Amino acid sequence: MRIAERVRTLPPYLFAAIERQIADRRAAGIDVISLGIGDPDLPTPPHVVAALAEAAADPSTHQYPSNRGEPGFREAVAAFYATRFGVALDPADQIVPLLGAKEGIAHLCQVLLDPGEPALAADPGYPVYVTGPALADGRAVHVPLLAELGFQPDLEAIPAEAAEKAKMIFVGYPNNPTGAVIEDDFFARLVAFAKANEIVVVHDNAYADITYDGYVAPSFLATPGASDVGVEVFSLSKSYNMTGWRAGAVVGDREVVDAYWRLKTNLDSGMFAAVQRAAAAALTGPQDCVRDMCRVYERRRDLLVEALRAVGIQAESPKGTIYLWVRVPERYTSASFTQQVLDQADVVVTPGAAYGPSGEGYVRLSLTVPDERLEEAVRRIEERVRL
Ligand SMILES: Cc1ncc(COP(=O)(O)O)c(C=O)c1O
Repeated sequence: MRIAERVRTLPPYLFAAIERQIADRRAAGIDVISLGIGDPDLPTPPHVVAALAEAAADPSTHQYPSNRGEPGFREAVAAFYATRFGVALDPADQIVPLLGAKEGIAHLCQVLLDPGEPALAADPGYPVYVTGPALADGRAVHVPLLAELGFQPDLEAIPAEAAEKAKMIFVGYPNNPTGAVIEDDFFARLVAFAKANEIVVVHDNAYADITYDGYVAPSFLATPGASDVGVEVFSLSKSYNMTGWRAGAVVGDREVVDAYWRLKTNLDSGMFAAVQRAAAAALTGPQDCVRDMCRVYERRRDLLVEALRAVGIQAESPKGTIYLWVRVPERYTSASFTQQVLDQADVVVTPGAAYGPSGEGYVRLSLTVPDERLEEAVRRIEERVRL
């Protein structure tokens, strides 16, 4: 048997390696606290669970759903985009359900890339910005996110050849892993760049509502001209603690949305109709659960920043996402610092280099562990980490 090259050459999925490391230590009886993975610990809001239970009891949801999505789901996404972002989307042809943003990111590469064609990928970035193009027989070209530009790419510095050949660009704000948000005209410059180079923007909006200190994140599609040059990959995973549900939507440019739908009709049979109804309930129902959750993360963020500063690490407070992106002290690499924290405190952080070459020199800490575990991690960092 010979497994295809595109799969054989895939790097091991980042979190699989971390999970193995945790499992080994736990098997040895060590109490490890993982700040490695961004999977919300809080439950899905009860009204969303109730909507699922009701929908699942209705036999009409038990058959194959449509890949286009139920009208109620698409209308709920459109209503949410209108009220939350001020973006008008036509439910008829600008919205298609995703089985999570991850699936959308991977499959959009197949929609847009011919063999050998490049996708520009924010670096550091969500790992599928690189593996998605590889699985589509394309290739990713890293576009560094620069700390001095607020972790935005310098669009002018992208080599002309890469900009000319690239078919798509992956960016996302609030940003994983850097926690950066957009507070200037970057999206307008991105639209101009995409138009000039005929590149499709894929804006990853997985953290739209996980924001702090009063900051409200915009949709990329609220930028004039954005709906003609790009799509947004929207997810319910983080805002409503629904990572296990696999619910999201691709929205925006009609041609891309339609092509994605055509691809998908050949790959799977859509999102369980009961999940679509529950997702609609999340998007159109009360939103105070999202704000309450952000307050929980905000407190954890502040605790962790304080602990890191206490041991001499100048951590910044992010305005969005569930991560701290922290520069490691000078004599460390991402990997050696990660090892040091694990060895001294039994706390897992993620080495920044795992998110791309520009992540070297950083580590990422996730805020998605229960309060008492986070407080224990903070205690261990303060008491045990010696740099
Ligand atoms: C930047 C980013 N995009 C996409 C995803 C995937 O989200 P989903 O659960 O909707 O597949 C994640 C998950 O952590 C993420 O951090």
